[in-house]
Amino acid sequence: MKKFTQASWDEPLIKELSRPGRVGNEVPSDPAVRSKFKDPAALVPESMRRASVNLPELSELQVLRHFNRLSQMNFSVELGMYPLGSCTMKYNPKVSEMIASSDSMKGAHPLQPPETVQGILSIFYDLERALSEVTGMHRFSLSTAAGAQGELAGVLMIRKYLRDHEGGARDEILVPDSAHGTNPASAAMAGFRVVKVPSEPDGQVRASKVKELASEKTAGMMFTVPNTLGLFEGEVKEVCDAVHGAGGLMYYDGANMNALLGRARPGDMGFDVVHLNLHKTFATPHGGGGPGAGPVGATRKLTDYLPVPVVTKGKGGYSLDYGLRRSIGPLKGFVGNSAVLLRAYVYIRLLGASGLKDVSSMAVLAANYLWKSLDPEAYPASHGKELLRKHEAVVSVKGELPGTAMTVAKAVLDLGMHAPTVYFPLIVHEALMIEPTESEPEEMLDEYAAALNDIYAKLKDGSLGVVPRNTSVGRVDEVKASHPLTLKVHW
Ligand SMILES: Cc1ncc(COP(=O)(O)O)c(C=O)c1O
Repeated sequence: MKKFTQASWDEPLIKELSRPGRVGNEVPSDPAVRSKFKDPAALVPESMRRASVNLPELSELQVLRHFNRLSQMNFSVELGMYPLGSCTMKYNPKVSEMIASSDSMKGAHPLQPPETVQGILSIFYDLERALSEVTGMHRFSLSTAAGAQGELAGVLMIRKYLRDHEGGARDEILVPDSAHGTNPASAAMAGFRVVKVPSEPDGQVRASKVKELASEKTAGMMFTVPNTLGLFEGEVKEVCDAVHGAGGLMYYDGANMNALLGRARPGDMGFDVVHLNLHKTFATPHGGGGPGAGPVGATRKLTDYLPVPVVTKGKGGYSLDYGLRRSIGPLKGFVGNSAVLLRAYVYIRLLGASGLKDVSSMAVLAANYLWKSLDPEAYPASHGKELLRKHEAVVSVKGELPGTAMTVAKAVLDLGMHAPTVYFPLIVHEALMIEPTESEPEEMLDEYAAALNDIYAKLKDGSLGVVPRNTSVGRVDEVKASHPLTLKVHW
């Protein structure tokens, strides 16, 4: 007998719930109309009638319950912590959602003449100024739709700048081995050869190593600070000097800017181009790599290379400027995902400069608190044990057997919690990457750490059993989503 009272793994398809003759529509009380319901088809003009549409037949309440049960099988940040390190979805405040879905926002059209959308253009102009201030850049282009697209824009800018200034001889980009996979992918898509920079045992990149690898072939380096191990790179300034010394440019992967908000700026560290993942830092939706927003910023000397359009303010008011002299061109229609950008603006205005500073304090505190609450025997830190974590903590699941991190993650799902990221960064054995963000209360962090500790204890004494048991599907083929994959790139 199927359970129909709560969200359960065996929720039937709506067609399986169907019974011939059941209806979900209300019959109007007017007797004249009612009489026609003896033959409902009589209400539909003959030319529009179909013999059979084969729709499920259910009562209204059954339909409502079916979809409610399905929705309860879902997980969201509004249900519990979502500590999916590196791709973390922060809580998006409701006020941002309300403003982004207001009629005036929904009704605006990208082809409207600028004089009719001065309000939203002024918001984007201010957002561009705020992001420039936070990062120490001269100017931002908002249109790029995800972190990865921001990266591609950034390396294309570096390529064009170098071609303009010294020809195309520099064809290598340095990328640390701890980098997010999108870094080498973006560099390769922009036509560069990727040179891997190995991290040291403490998880950091040494300037001396970068000096060794940098040459007259080096176009630049993509550097993530704090890095994907959650560690601040101690030699960031020296690394920038090393690359600049070899004639290359420095690209800042700003996906982890949450840890630095209001405290340190990539522009002051020596970076030339940056991207920000608005979803990771400024509380906007992510949505599986898009539709999101990964704006790109540049120092003064690279500003003209930004993707167009950029928002400008002139005598006639605000407008979208497609005329940047050396631009790499447009990568996305119009100003980008405007409702996402608007949410980021609301978040910045809600918090103000001091609030943004609090965000980084709380994010760092939460990451360290959670990390320190984990059993160090079960979940040893892979790198830099003595160093403070920034936005996230990466640990190894102790044990020789491959697949242990996946088992822990599946056991977390069984408890109705969201799993951490697994097997990333690639340089960490049986990795769990946990990023709680600033929004989580202490009790949630305690509960999560206790759950992980308990799972490991059960794993060790053999009482964990097969996991997951309580999810709608069991173990899925994790590889099939991306392999085999047929990709075509059209330039
Ligand atoms: C360090 C780092 N760089 C780049 C990206 C790529 O960003 P996106 O997923 O928005 O393309 C991510 C993902 O969040 C990331 O964590």
